Order: sequence, then structure tokens, then C-alpha cells
Amino acid sequence: MSSDSSFFTDLERKQEYLDWRDRKLDAYPQSADELIVQVNDPVRLSEQEYRAIGDRLNRANMAIWDSAQAKDNPKIATLNLGRQYNMVRLDHNMGADQDGVSELTVREGQWRGGYIPYSNKPLHWHTDGYYNTEERKILGMVLYCVQDAARGGANALIDHEIAYIHLRDSDPAYISALLHPSVMTIPANIVNGKELRPDRTGPVFSVVDNGALHMRYTARARNIIWRDDALTSEAVACLTAFLGSDSPYIMHARLSPGQGLICNNVLHDRSGFDNDATHERKLYRLRYYDRAVVDQ
Ligand SMILES: [Fe+2]
Repeated sequence: MSSDSSFFTDLERKQEYLDWRDRKLDAYPQSADELIVQVNDPVRLSEQEYRAIGDRLNRANMAIWDSAQAKDNPKIATLNLGRQYNMVRLDHNMGADQDGVSELTVREGQWRGGYIPYSNKPLHWHTDGYYNTEERKILGMVLYCVQDAARGGANALIDHEIAYIHLRDSDPAYISALLHPSVMTIPANIVNGKELRPDRTGPVFSVVDNGALHMRYTARARNIIWRDDALTSEAVACLTAFLGSDSPYIMHARLSPGQGLICNNVLHDRSGFDNDATHERKLYRLRYYDRAVVDQ
């Protein structure tokens, strides 16, 4: 990230934006295969492994790590991988265990079963924690695949900076609309008359302290209240069309056991899946209030 990234919010800084944009698009990986880095011990990355993952993070805000050794002690491996990229402040969300690790499996008949991440249904495009407060923004995420499904359960992934570029190049006014502090409201989560979470209102795009771009988004059509003006509607339609397109910037990956994702909360979805007796999909998910930062 450049030291001065105010061009993200200052639409007058056109040349700085264009220079950054050209560098970004030139460096962006061509396919998900380019994101994959073979890792020996995820707890102690070698200098070369560290740099290889760091390179993908710098270019695409994401990397896929692949380690046979992670299978021996997956939770420790997953917790320690992020730590090496300065990801330490874990979000202890409702579904997480005492370590801050959420085990994503199909949970029927439990409270978690009411939430789509804990079902086998498709998950539409989103960034994680879009219902969190400003103070608890999810900046980074690490996934690890303990077990894949019999069929399905693939992810589409796109760097949110690419979505920003698409919108700004389509019409810079779309960026203004999506920077608005009350552009998107997620209504309260009320279960059995008890409010588990109040309404959350905030921008789609914002810039965090270190100058990085953050995106808060869900493609969920129901129960999302968008600011009621024509420009917002157009901007959201433009984004929806882009994410639904066959843009080469959209990566497709299906994590298999031993593989995981480390990312700066990029946009992602998940296809529906089917388990069988030997393939019960199980993923570890860790959410952080820290971005992955690659040491120089
Ligand atoms: Fe997610």
C-alpha cells in the first residue's frame, strides 16, 4: 500500500488513482493457480515461503497456502500462519471457540443451523463481518480446509480493490455513493424476540488507519436497506453485474484438505455442496481486526 492512499476517497486525485490502478491490474494474478504457495511447516514459514505468500498478498490481497504438514495439527497451523503476517487480534464471534476459531460444518438442529455458513447452501458474494461495528471491522481472514465435501463447496474470490476499480472506471460517482456513511444498513438480528445485534449502518468502502481500502458488502437481497437514491441503486447494480459476470479477475478455487486461504477480507462466495459418509466438509475460519502485513 502506498503511503498516501487518499486517492481512494478523493476523486480529484485522478492521476494518482490511475497510476495505482495500472500497477494493480498489471500485477494481478491470472488465475487461482497463481495464488497457491506450497508450504512445508505453516507454523514456521521459510523465508522463501513467507515471501511467496507475501507476494500474492501484495498483488491480490490473498494467497492460498498448501501444506501436507498442516493436517497433523490444523488448528495450531492455522492460528500460527496468520501471526507471521502480523494478524493477531482475533474476532471472537458467536460461532467461534475459545481460541477464536470457527469450525464451519453443517449443523442441523443447532442454533448455528439457522445461519447459512453452517449449512450446505450457497453463500452469495460478501466480505466477512459486514454486520460488525466500525470498531470491529474484519480486515483479515484465514481459512483452512480440514475436509472437503463430496461435491461442490467451491469459492469464487476477487480482490475488493478490483471491484473498486471496476466501479470507479464505470462512474466515479458510484464510489462517492458507496463511501457514504449510511449507504448500507443491515437490520437487527432478532431471534425469539431477543435482539442479538442492533441495526448496523455504514459505508461499503472506507479507508483504514494504514491507508488500506476496506469493503463491507453482502449481495444478500433480502433484509438489506440501501440508501434510497438513484446513484446508490446504479452503483449496487453495477457491482452486482460485475460479480455475476465471467470477469477474468474473479478467481475460482476449491480448497482441498491441507489447503487454506489467507486474505485481507476479499470478496468471496461459496457454492452449495453435498456431503457423504467420508466427505463431511469442515473448514476452520479465523477473522481478524488486523490486515495481513508483509514485513519488508
Ligand atoms: Fe465469508
